[in-house]
Amino acid sequence: MLNSIGLQNPGVEFFMENDLPWLKRFDTAIIVNACGSTIDEYVELCKVLNTLDIDGVELNLSCPNVKAGCLAFGTTYEGVKEVTSQVRKVLDKPLIVKLTPNVTDITAPAKGAEDAGADGVSLINTLLGMSIDIYKRRPHLANNTGGLSGPAVKPVAVRMVYQVSKAVKIPILGLGGIITGEDAIEFMLAGAQAISIGTANFIAPDTCLKVIDGIEKYMKKCNIEDINSIVGTVEMN
Ligand SMILES: Cc1cc2nc3c(=O)[nH]c(=O)nc-3n(C[C@H](O)[C@H](O)[C@H](O)COP(=O)(O)O)c2cc1C
Repeated sequence: MLNSIGLQNPGVEFFMENDLPWLKRFDTAIIVNACGSTIDEYVELCKVLNTLDIDGVELNLSCPNVKAGCLAFGTTYEGVKEVTSQVRKVLDKPLIVKLTPNVTDITAPAKGAEDAGADGVSLINTLLGMSIDIYKRRPHLANNTGGLSGPAVKPVAVRMVYQVSKAVKIPILGLGGIITGEDAIEFMLAGAQAISIGTANFIAPDTCLKVIDGIEKYMKKCNIEDINSIVGTVEMN
């Protein structure tokens, strides 16, 4: 998928009053993805999130579709460290920093997050892409470029999860193109303690159930009792 929807949303007050009570009906952890256009906005938002009955915050430092926004902080060690440490001061809940793949060296921002006290990192967000209507000779997207996700990005994501797992000690939430249990296992072997699923939900909203099923089948087939035992066990050629 190539998307350029930006980060427009009804805001944190609306979330508190409407979405959170609805989410609370389910027996599951609630991790809120948070974004701002300035460091102050991240801090103000996380002050509010800190007061809510949620299980953690994922800081989006990596959206490619917002002009002066979060990507500006997400690409360097210093940028990630600065935002994360300011947020850390006001947030007692588990803090995951979500990284952009649009960098030369993914380990630098990952270390910035770790050094600033993040509890984990998640990766990858979308890769910057472009697609052209050959008859109009214009990009398909009004924004010209967009974020690429889904199966096409999986090898990039797996490689980056592996690299980050060698560079930091905090846990990794891996994502990018996961559709099956086998995909999830690949991320775990590369070093992810947990996985997320985005784009696949647009095709099949029950993807999570199928992925869990696939993980269980793999465990049976390979005689694995504890899924945690496979994390980071890939042997390089
Ligand atoms: C339509 C769409 C909206 C997205 N919105 C967000 C967002 O608000 N915050 C964020 O951190 N990532 C966002 N992402 C990125 C995904 O969470 C994910 O990092 C990326 O798409 C790779 O995983 P996937 O291939 O499973 O989708 C979005 C992706 C898509 C396709």
